[in-house]
Amino acid sequence: MTAFGTLLPPPPAKRRGIPLYYDKTEEEVRQDVYERYDELVARQTALHLADEAHGGYPLQPLADYLGRWLPDSPAAAIADVGCSVGRLIGDLATAHPAWDCYGLDFSYQMLRQARDYWNLGETVSANLLRYGYGHDTFSGKRLPNLHFALADAAALPFPDASLDVLFSTFLIDRIPDPFRAFAEWRRVIKPGGRLLCVSPLNFLKREQWEKYHPPVRLLDHLLTTGWQLADLTDPLWLEEPMDRRGSCIRWKTLALVIDRPAV
Ligand SMILES: C[S@@+](CC[C@H](N)C(=O)[O-])C[C@H]1O[C@@H](n2cnc3c(N)ncnc32)[C@H](O)[C@@H]1O
Repeated sequence: MTAFGTLLPPPPAKRRGIPLYYDKTEEEVRQDVYERYDELVARQTALHLADEAHGGYPLQPLADYLGRWLPDSPAAAIADVGCSVGRLIGDLATAHPAWDCYGLDFSYQMLRQARDYWNLGETVSANLLRYGYGHDTFSGKRLPNLHFALADAAALPFPDASLDVLFSTFLIDRIPDPFRAFAEWRRVIKPGGRLLCVSPLNFLKREQWEKYHPPVRLLDHLLTTGWQLADLTDPLWLEEPMDRRGSCIRWKTLALVIDRPAV
């Protein structure tokens, strides 16, 4: 069994208690939309924490899908890569106090919100007035089994073969090279461990559409690089609410469950 939090090595630097495994330049911070507190952090906070305003957690169908493919073992080391404000991994850490849970992201501002809420028990807020909601506040938790860190999805701080499960949602179409990330994820997942990946494949660049779409291209790559398919659900429709009137983005996601074979 893994003791809580022992998978992360000492970081080169820390900021407000968040280990930084990537040294972002000022230019990288400026260019990164996910560092924009009033836009992306507020929207992610609204999506993931404002259940009351939405009449429930809008991404519950995503959480339910992941839940169907998680181990039922009493102890597990599990990471959410691209965790943003930490809702999916936070709910798992809450439901499984004996699991060793990690939330990794490339945005310091997302992680700050995540850590304030899930680790420090602080009340965080999101100004949702422009979407017709309020300026809502959400009181946080103090989870000892959840650890946040800043790292690039394709260069994780974990030792080889250290995780039982790694999952990433709405991430692989945001990063430059998903194949590099898959190779890195295979390194850190234990033989017999599992990768869960859900993405709308809404790539940012035309070259990426050509390289990774349709999904059979991704699948071919995965199956020829040592992964074993356990489930493919396409589409898994997910709705992201936009405002109080009920406008929403309906994401046509691809959901994959792939295993690293035991030997
Ligand atoms: C569209 S959001 C998705 C957040 C969450 N997983 C969800 O399902 O709603 C993408 C997240 O991935 C993070 N991200 C982007 N590039 C990354 C990278 N190279 N490594 C790790 N995280 C990254 C962003 O900072 C952001 O928090």
